[in-house]
Amino acid sequence: MGKHWADFQYEIYLNGMTGAVPRLPTDLTRLEELTEQRLGPGPVGYVAGSAGNGSTARANRAALERRRIVPRMLRDVRERDLSVEVLGRALPAPLALAPVGVLSIMHPDAESAAARAAAAAQGVPFVLSSASSTPMEQVAEAMGDAERWFQLYWPRDPEVARSFLNRARAAGFSVLVVTLDTPLLAWRPRDLDQAYLPFLHGVGTANYFSDPAFQAGLAKPVHEDPNAAVMHFVGMFADPAKTWPDLAFLRENWDGPIVLKGVLHPDDARQAADAGMDGVVVSNHGGRQVAGSVAAADALPRVADAVGDRLTVLFDSGIRTGDDIFKALALGARAVLVGRPYVYGLGLDGRPGVEHVIRCLLAELDLTLALSGHATPGTIGPADLVEDPA
Ligand code: FNR
Repeated sequence: MGKHWADFQYEIYLNGMTGAVPRLPTDLTRLEELTEQRLGPGPVGYVAGSAGNGSTARANRAALERRRIVPRMLRDVRERDLSVEVLGRALPAPLALAPVGVLSIMHPDAESAAARAAAAAQGVPFVLSSASSTPMEQVAEAMGDAERWFQLYWPRDPEVARSFLNRARAAGFSVLVVTLDTPLLAWRPRDLDQAYLPFLHGVGTANYFSDPAFQAGLAKPVHEDPNAAVMHFVGMFADPAKTWPDLAFLRENWDGPIVLKGVLHPDDARQAADAGMDGVVVSNHGGRQVAGSVAAADALPRVADAVGDRLTVLFDSGIRTGDDIFKALALGARAVLVGRPYVYGLGLDGRPGVEHVIRCLLAELDLTLALSGHATPGTIGPADLVEDPA
């Protein structure tokens, strides 16, 4: 019998014979509370917080919880394979680490630690945020030739955008993920109540401050006038004036796959396909942008129905467990991104903490698959779920 992700449980039990138990909980829904207890209120509020009163983040969880798996029996699940092809890339499992900015507020090893953990997990893709606290070249170096994607916050200055794309390509990032749902920072009470915004302290600006096109817009070098550099960043970070025809710029400047993140309406997904994009991430940014928004898992089947044959449909927002991944695949996603859980793992235990989260998620997914009668993600479909009326 080949090696399976599920074997992680035997590793844990075997280690237990010497008295060792896992350093972090294996029920990943417990990580948020632990992080709240152990890390400072500013960083924890920034990561755990959401838009408004948190209703979208709660709806994300409820929409996944409401759907229940209907396991099937006697279907030979002895040999299993979680690998999938996504956007022409061979992935070990239908999972990637979502782009999350400013990871240095959680752990000094920040993005490099998370990227190394992803690389060590058979090359689960690490999606690096534009707003990382480590320059993209340094993260690439930490990863060897492991799979990495670059997330673009589309800056107002086209020269900075072009420069980011050139740097990302040169540093070996294969897929471009363009986040559309953040043309403005949302109303986030946990950050507002503490007046906590790391960018204003020059944290999460590493890609900008190290960029020649960005630097060209400054009167003095960053180290001579850091405040002016921060203000320049604030003015160009996002561009609320962008519209669909602007996507042509990205298509001209990136020759690999392009995925639009933050799509929730089937018509937006159709427009993405018409604009020559390769995929969408059905996402509401983990509930951090629009309070009162549709739950991402409720938007997913509608988007998949509309464009599933034209685009690669990915999903995030609310994934906490292996069975959540199973449900997202059943609702039409090709693969999922996970956000906060790996960030909590990083905050609690650095690189090993992120590895723990990835291995728990994939062990649980592997077992959910097997115990529900599937040997590969490819056979999961809508018929595997029912909606709990309660
Ligand atoms: C994010 N997210 C995000 N998305 C993005 O495209 N660029 C970014 O820089 C960030 N930064 C960021 C910071 C923090 C602290 C969080 C929690 C999230 C959104 C992220 O990619 C993803 O969409 C959500 O995290 C998914 O929801 P869950 O898994 O956290 O519920």
